[in-house]
Amino acid sequence: MRERSRVEETIYAMQRAGAGSLQVISDFDMTLTRFAHNGKRVATTHNILDNRLLINEDCTKKMRELLNIYYPIEIDASRSVEEKLPLMVEWWTKVHELLIQQKIKKDLLAQAVRESSTMLRDGYKVFFDGLAEHQVPLLIFSAGVGDVLEEVIRQNHVFHPNVHIISNYMDFDRTGVLRAFKGQLIHTFNKREGALSHAAGLRELQGRPNVLLLGDSLGDLTMADGVSEPQNILTIGFLNDQVEERKETYVNSFDIVLVKDETMDVPNAIFRYIT
Ligand code: C5P
Ligand code: MG
Repeated sequence: MRERSRVEETIYAMQRAGAGSLQVISDFDMTLTRFAHNGKRVATTHNILDNRLLINEDCTKKMRELLNIYYPIEIDASRSVEEKLPLMVEWWTKVHELLIQQKIKKDLLAQAVRESSTMLRDGYKVFFDGLAEHQVPLLIFSAGVGDVLEEVIRQNHVFHPNVHIISNYMDFDRTGVLRAFKGQLIHTFNKREGALSHAAGLRELQGRPNVLLLGDSLGDLTMADGVSEPQNILTIGFLNDQVEERKETYVNSFDIVLVKDETMDVPNAIFRYIT
């Protein structure tokens, strides 16, 4: 924590206002899901699609090449967001084009999720169930693939009615074959635009000026930009990768930084205190 007293004051203010004033806005990949498990990276929603059921070997190879080029850029502490922006658009656009060429079938997505290495962070059930029980809306704001994301939380039995999702959704034709992605592309560094155009209009989030925001990327900090008249915002950043290089920036940007923490323990403790 950069400023422990500010964190404490924000949590006290949120507690005084109660659950009725609170909303939680969270990123998905590597924030609600684990970064690694037993020393191996856990699949992101895009990487869950890397399954022979859905894509061929050539597509796997191309997607991995793109990941090897663009992921280091995404997390590079020495490049500015302005510099990264066009490159992220390039990465997402290329991957989505590859996926569309594969004619992915909607009805195989659930099986691909079951067979994948995806895992929600330890303590996820307490987190999702607690928010649902107190009727606190959870907005999941993801640059991943919405259809896959939904399936992950459904298979983990935490897709409760208080969950709202903004993400890249697949557009299937009448026979259930992928033909495009819907709407404006969401990547790691344009969440502000999505927040203003989508989140700001969500009725369930109105009148809740206190925000608990969770993310693993600096781009996630703009996810609350659509909240009208915010009062208290507490940001928690999961620093999973390139820890030494990024620590200072993360500590200067998020209120709380969790270093290589694969659990929801801190958000759960804060939520328990507030309610
Ligand atoms: O849910 P979230 O916004 O975190 O989803 C985006 C993440 O997915 C990025 O951090 C990026 O590293 C990852 N990604 C990926 N493969 C892609 C595109 C993005 O693993 N083709
Ligand atoms: Mg993420």
